[in-house]
Amino acid sequence: MTLPVFETPRLIVRSITEHDAEGLHEAYGDADAMRHWDLPPSVDVSQTAERIRLSAEADPRWHGMWAVQTHAGRFVGAINYHAHNEQQRRLALGWIVVPSCWRQGLMTEAAPPVISHCFTRLNAHRIEARIEPENVSSRRLAAKLRFTEEGLLRDWLCVAGEFRNVVMYSLLRTEWS
Ligand SMILES: CC(C)(COP(=O)(O)OP(=O)(O)OC[C@H]1O[C@@H](n2cnc3c(N)ncnc32)[C@H](O)[C@@H]1OP(=O)(O)O)[C@@H](O)C(=O)NCCC(=O)NCCS
Repeated sequence: MTLPVFETPRLIVRSITEHDAEGLHEAYGDADAMRHWDLPPSVDVSQTAERIRLSAEADPRWHGMWAVQTHAGRFVGAINYHAHNEQQRRLALGWIVVPSCWRQGLMTEAAPPVISHCFTRLNAHRIEARIEPENVSSRRLAAKLRFTEEGLLRDWLCVAGEFRNVVMYSLLRTEWS
């Protein structure tokens, strides 16, 4: 499915495609970037391409993924919604930036139009971010985006046979303007 395109001062946020495999692999193939992701690192760029393909094939009511690129066309990251429950009007966000571009404020800039889209076009009432306690950068990002920390979910994730805790964050439509 084609998602809407958003422009920010430095970035274009648009549907991810298999042409983004090499760019995304800078993150998906990196052990540090994937340390707190809910998938193990991709073994090679073709596995990253396969992951993009599966994402694009998912039911858009449940999942959608944007690529984040500079205006010059450099792939810098991705942001997705998943676990969208239309009846309960909630979904979860996932975000990742290629390591060479960390701490430049890029995801702080890319996430707001996606959040607005989730509250308006997808009619969500509650947006969740489920973040491992040790993932300082993602927790800091969630706080910056005005998510509220709610509590620890024990052994909530299972990645490659290993259970992991996550901290639940949420942002309500009434808190977003
Ligand atoms: C989480 C992530 C997407 C943040 O992207 P980013 O573009 O580097 O984030 P920003 O530059 O917009 O920074 C957002 C805030 O986090 C802070 N931050 C970012 N990295 C940090 C770090 N390593 N340590 C402490 N704070 C950090 C920034 O300083 C900023 O807060 P501030 O303005 O109050 O200082 C990126 O670190 C990443 O890709 N991590 C690996 C993937 C991942 O774990 N995703 C989340 C799974 S839940």
